[in-house]
Amino acid sequence: TGSIDILGIETSCDETAAAVVRRFTDGSGEILSDVVLSQLDLHSAFGGVVPELAARSHVSTLDRLVEQALAESGVPLPQIDAVAVTSGPGLIGGLMVGLMTAKAIAMAANKPFLGINHLEGHALTARLTDNVTFPYLLLLVSGGHTQIVLVKGVDDYERWGTTIDDALGEAFDKTAKLLGLGYPGGPAVEQAALSGEPKRFRLPVPMRKDPRLDFSFSGLKTAVRQMAEQQAPLSQQTIADLCLAFQTSVTASIDDRIAMALERFTERFGTESKPALVVAGGVAANKAIRTTLENRASRAGFRFIAPPLNLCTDNAAMIAWAGAERLAAGLPADQLDLAPRSRWP
Ligand code: KG4
Ligand code: ZN
Repeated sequence: TGSIDILGIETSCDETAAAVVRRFTDGSGEILSDVVLSQLDLHSAFGGVVPELAARSHVSTLDRLVEQALAESGVPLPQIDAVAVTSGPGLIGGLMVGLMTAKAIAMAANKPFLGINHLEGHALTARLTDNVTFPYLLLLVSGGHTQIVLVKGVDDYERWGTTIDDALGEAFDKTAKLLGLGYPGGPAVEQAALSGEPKRFRLPVPMRKDPRLDFSFSGLKTAVRQMAEQQAPLSQQTIADLCLAFQTSVTASIDDRIAMALERFTERFGTESKPALVVAGGVAANKAIRTTLENRASRAGFRFIAPPLNLCTDNAAMIAWAGAERLAAGLPADQLDLAPRSRWP
């Protein structure tokens, strides 16, 4: 029956995004357009995302972005096969904006409508970029999520671990804030850590060897705060040294957790087919973390896959793609009374 073209919409956090993605019958995909409007400037003065401002901004920009995505794709709305939208988890105001818009378009154009779990979008992106086959292991590390997920198939996931307190990106952001660095904190901490003195501060490695595959970062942030208070007033060098200590410690923790996850995966599935470790989320931009994951994967006999950064962070192509994968798997479209879900594991 040929390929399918899906319009995707994403408004669950502080990115307004629309995209058109094509899925071919052989399972490969192509991004026909991918438009993302970041609200970073809107929220940076507050040191974090302000939900009300985010929702208002989605309202005022989304229709223009959808028009742009359709125009750039070269696929007019009547030829689109379905409309997919993030229906959770996320900030409820933003989700409502996306959902209402997607429903209105689907209804007016008489198209199937799909509410997508944002995490499924992140989880399936590697199949769009690298044709990865099931099963594979996903590490999702963003401002809102820190999870190890076994991806067995479309709509078929096992969550192996999650954070018991802060998300990893959130921990970077909070650490940056308490050291007087800007928002978002991740890039600022990574940059500062480059000039850090490796042996000056030592921080514990959270959850090391813990048989649960979970993460914990808030204790580390508190330890940085206490060290910073002892060292006040902070010199540029001390800030850099603390950033490096923090980054080294979270990297070691991730390495420890992922090593255990790869072991479990290997016990269950073997490594003959050279399975993949996939990383997604904004923190995947961090070079120290990336390199560590790459080394760990290769030592364990896994391929390491990090989709291009613009597809690791929030975008609508991953939502359109998840919609395409669901349709191709024979999963039903949703009803137009589908409600947004702020929490949706
Ligand atoms: O996936 P993302 O763009 O948005 C969501 O949270 O959904 O991730 C943003 C998070 C922020 O917390 C940011 O500080 C973090 O990713 N981040 C980084 C780096 N770049 C972005 N963390 C560590 N190192 C980086 N280079
Ligand atoms: Zn995300």
